[in-house]
Amino acid sequence: MPKTVILTGLRANNDLHIGNYLGALKPIVDLAKNADESTQINLFVPDLHSFTTPIEHGSLSASITTNLKLYVAAGLPLDKPNVYIYRQSYIPAHSELTWILDCFAGYGELQRMTQFKDKSASVGNERISMGLLNYPVLMAADILLYGANYIPVGDDQTQHLEFTRDLAERMNKQFGDIFVVPLPVAKQHEFFNKDQGLRVKDLSDPTKKMSKSSESSKGVIFLTDSIDEAKAKVLSATTDSLNAINYNKETQPGVSNLMDLVALLTDTPLDQVIAKYKDQTSYASLKSDVATAIENFLKEFQGRLSSVDENAIKAKLESSESAMNTQANETLIKVQKAVGLRA
Ligand code: TRP
Repeated sequence: MPKTVILTGLRANNDLHIGNYLGALKPIVDLAKNADESTQINLFVPDLHSFTTPIEHGSLSASITTNLKLYVAAGLPLDKPNVYIYRQSYIPAHSELTWILDCFAGYGELQRMTQFKDKSASVGNERISMGLLNYPVLMAADILLYGANYIPVGDDQTQHLEFTRDLAERMNKQFGDIFVVPLPVAKQHEFFNKDQGLRVKDLSDPTKKMSKSSESSKGVIFLTDSIDEAKAKVLSATTDSLNAINYNKETQPGVSNLMDLVALLTDTPLDQVIAKYKDQTSYASLKSDVATAIENFLKEFQGRLSSVDENAIKAKLESSESAMNTQANETLIKVQKAVGLRA
């Protein structure tokens, strides 16, 4: 029976907060932890994607290492043979397949991608990089090289996923079944149980998502915050003056966010958390419970981060990259034959 392949790109971001952790990092790590042998998990660093918009090139390589360390500190297993961790640029087939796919992708369809429109809006035409326009094609190559079925990504990436499906179907129609088409987004949401974790809000403005780009960091708890800083942010979290604890995001967004945090950080089902605070009229004990949960979490996480074994990461990268070069090249050769480059 063919394996189920779950694949995602670990976007480099060294300013992670607990919203990223609970919404993206932890679900991926849990997936890798729980995967049995019938599933292949591909977690890769899309390093070639990282300069489609300007970056500090001198620190790219170091930030890739830091990023991987964060995943390992979050519990990413390095010892499971069915979990592969690799860098895109170490598998040349990504670039080669991108070129071939490019010749079957439309300029118009790429120009219409929301992310392209957003990111190119503030740049003059002459300076919009071809890489930015081409971003979704490289992403399609990332996915199609490994026959991936499920691709856990944020909502901002679903358009790119639809594009990948369109392109794969277009080429399959012309050349016979060369690609595994990833499952439609709705099926993926079913599989990943979508609303898990994505709900952490800013502590000072609980109507907004927790985000590193908020004007102030008062409501954002970074994974690198000191325990005291983090606790102070929790204790000054915005609530309301209703003096009742109901889980209702419309009427009590702040209190509901705090309950979500207790549930997620202590792995307690939300209904148990709701029941616990049901009759309380003060927010003090809820806040202090969140502060304790954050303290325990940060202590453990930061402790693990400081003792991550970089050599173990290096060894895992090397063995995964070797195995993934073999897999990717098999697909590449199949495509090269199909389009007439090889007899
Ligand atoms: N574009 C993705 C993001 O910004 C990262 C990414 C690159 C990716 N290639 C991918 C995700 C392939 C899934 C599959 O989050």
